[in-house]
Amino acid sequence: MNRWIVERVICPGRQIIVDLGCGPGAVTKLILERLGDARDVRVIGIDPSPSAIERARAAIKSRITEFIQGTAESLSGIVPRADAVVFLNAIHLVPDKAQVIGEVRKILPRGGVFAFNSTFFNGAYVEGTSKFWRRWIVRAVQALRERGLDVHHTEKATARDFLSPEQYSALCVAAGFAPPAIELVKVNFTFESMVDIARFSLFIEGALPGVPLEEGARALEIGLVRTMNELGVSTVPRFWMEAVATAA
Ligand SMILES: C[S@@+](CC[C@H](N)C(=O)[O-])C[C@H]1O[C@@H](n2cnc3c(N)ncnc32)[C@H](O)[C@@H]1O
Repeated sequence: MNRWIVERVICPGRQIIVDLGCGPGAVTKLILERLGDARDVRVIGIDPSPSAIERARAAIKSRITEFIQGTAESLSGIVPRADAVVFLNAIHLVPDKAQVIGEVRKILPRGGVFAFNSTFFNGAYVEGTSKFWRRWIVRAVQALRERGLDVHHTEKATARDFLSPEQYSALCVAAGFAPPAIELVKVNFTFESMVDIARFSLFIEGALPGVPLEEGARALEIGLVRTMNELGVSTVPRFWMEAVATAA
C-alpha cells in the first residue's frame, strides 16, 4: 500500500520530500528506491519517536536523507518548505487532523502534493465482512471474561472517531487543497496482519474500552483464532484508503 502511493507522488521535479511519521524508515527506503540515483533531492524523515528515528538513522545511510525528531503538529517549524509530503499509516493517530493538514499545506507551494493512507477509517469494512469483525470482538470479550476481566463502555471508544474519506476530503479542501483523489484499495488481511492490528493501541481502546492494552491484545488474538476457525476463513478483505491532494 505504501509503494502504491510512493509510485504516484515521487517523480522528477520534487526536490524536498518529507516522510512524515517515518517510523523506522520503511517508507523512506521506498522513496529512495524510487528516486534511484537522483542527486538534487532532499528526503526528510520526521517522527516523534526517538527510538524510531534512531533505528531509521541506523538502517538508512544516504547523503540525501536526514531524520528529525518532531511531530506533524509542528511540521512548519521543522521544515519550512517541501514539494511532497507523505504521511503513511499515521494520520489516524493524530487527534486534530484539521490542524495537521493545515501544517502540511503551509509548507507546500501551489502544485505540491500531500499523500496519506490508512486502513483505520470509517468505511474500511468490505461489504459482507462486518459479521467477521463483530464476532471477533464478541469472542475477544468472552476471552477477557474467562480471565475475570471486562470492558467498560463508559470509556471513550476511540475507534468510533475514525473519519470517512469524505471527511478527510473536506478537511483537505478547507486547508487549501484541491479535492483529493481518494481510492479505496481492497487488501486481504492474513492472520498475521490481523494480529498486528490486535496490538495497535487505538484499535484495542476502540474494541475493548477500559481494558489494559496487554490484556486487550491477548484477548483479541484469542478471539481472532476462534473467529477464524468458526467461520472457516484464512483471510479477510479490508479497504485501505489512499489519498493524494494537490495544493491549490
Ligand atoms: C504505523 S507507523 C507508520 C510508519 C511508516 N509511515 C509506515 O507506513 O511504515 C505510525 C508512525 O506515526 C508516528 N506518529 C504518531 N503520532 C504522530 C504525530 N503526531 N506526528 C507524526 N508522526 C506521528 C508514530 O511514531 C509511528 O512511527
